[in-house]
Amino acid sequence: MTPHPDFARESLLVLGIETSCDETAAAVVERDPKGSGRILSNVVLSQFDKHAIYGGVVPEIAARAHTECLDQMIRAALDEAQIGLGELSGIAAASGPGLIGGLIVGATTGKALALATGKPFLAINHLEAHALTVGLTDGVRPPYLMLLVSGGHTQLLFVEDVGHYRRLATTIDDALGEAFDKTAKLLGLPMPGGPAVEQAALRGDPGRFNLPRPMAGREDPHFSFAGLKTAVRHAAARVAPLSDQDVADLCASFQAAVCDSVTDRVALAMRLVSPLLADARSRPFVVAGGVAANKALRTALVGVAEDFGFSFHAPPLELCTDNGAMIAWAGAERLALGLVDSLDSPVKPRWPLDPNAVRAAGAGVKA
Ligand code: KG4
Ligand code: ZN
Repeated sequence: MTPHPDFARESLLVLGIETSCDETAAAVVERDPKGSGRILSNVVLSQFDKHAIYGGVVPEIAARAHTECLDQMIRAALDEAQIGLGELSGIAAASGPGLIGGLIVGATTGKALALATGKPFLAINHLEAHALTVGLTDGVRPPYLMLLVSGGHTQLLFVEDVGHYRRLATTIDDALGEAFDKTAKLLGLPMPGGPAVEQAALRGDPGRFNLPRPMAGREDPHFSFAGLKTAVRHAAARVAPLSDQDVADLCASFQAAVCDSVTDRVALAMRLVSPLLADARSRPFVVAGGVAANKALRTALVGVAEDFGFSFHAPPLELCTDNGAMIAWAGAERLALGLVDSLDSPVKPRWPLDPNAVRAAGAGVKA
């Protein structure tokens, strides 16, 4: 892609707004003309306590909570960065995929600020923001192979360039974060489920329960986690009532099955993309999204990367889960290319990164 003549030569300061799920977040990042990034501020307010009693995120409560605090979060991000609105180069807001109410709050706020200041508006795909975060944190630039594992998505992507993504695989049922969250719920662990399962697994025996390794050995690199979650339920029912040790062993066994299944799928994807990276100077493998914060999974993925001659990259833990810095960075990358959006650009609850991806056989509506 040819850089935009105006923006590519300047240092860019971009405000990022994230409201697609249950985190209200704002950040300011700087991108220098060589493409290196720096976080000037990054404030995140989680709504976990508001949703906890319902056992999951309630969309209307999330949207209202964003409305209540977003202006203060933006003020805090600007203050911490010691930047006035007038000094910004652009304003970026997550505009999908996600919960429509929250997206409307964030995108409308971003557009209002863009209109009031005359700055460019950038409508950011939340998945693209996860996918590009390693450019900000590790200076890794496309092309690379990427595993995106969040609460709503589980995908293997070939990131060709900013704005150009080839989806190699997706889940045919539950997303990996969703599988962690549902497993936590059925074992009586608190929200957010992923970290709770990881914590409990530390005390558990991963070999006690023989759980399936979904899709392992299959020739298409897709994922499936619904069967694994059901297997955990059956295993739990067999030993109920559950002691703390039973819960820990179930979590450790679940996490071990997840690691085996995911590494099998990633190994296949590495074989598939190797020809596409034949001319590249390096072969980066990037993992991002909330579940990339899981240390057992990270360790397992480091191993596959080594086996297949890829370098392993993942954002630091706090930038794996949703945040404003990743939105601001995706905004800065797009702004450098002149990819500005109009103030009537829509929010999109569904927004695939690769619009040409073929539907996976057997996949549900989320794929
Ligand atoms: O990317 P993210 O913050 O939000 C979405 O875009 O979905 O991902 C949230 C998901 C949740 O399902 C959460 O349980 C999971 O990431 N997660 C984890 C861990 N930390 C967050 N899953 C496993 N282990 C973790 N340490
Ligand atoms: Zn996310």
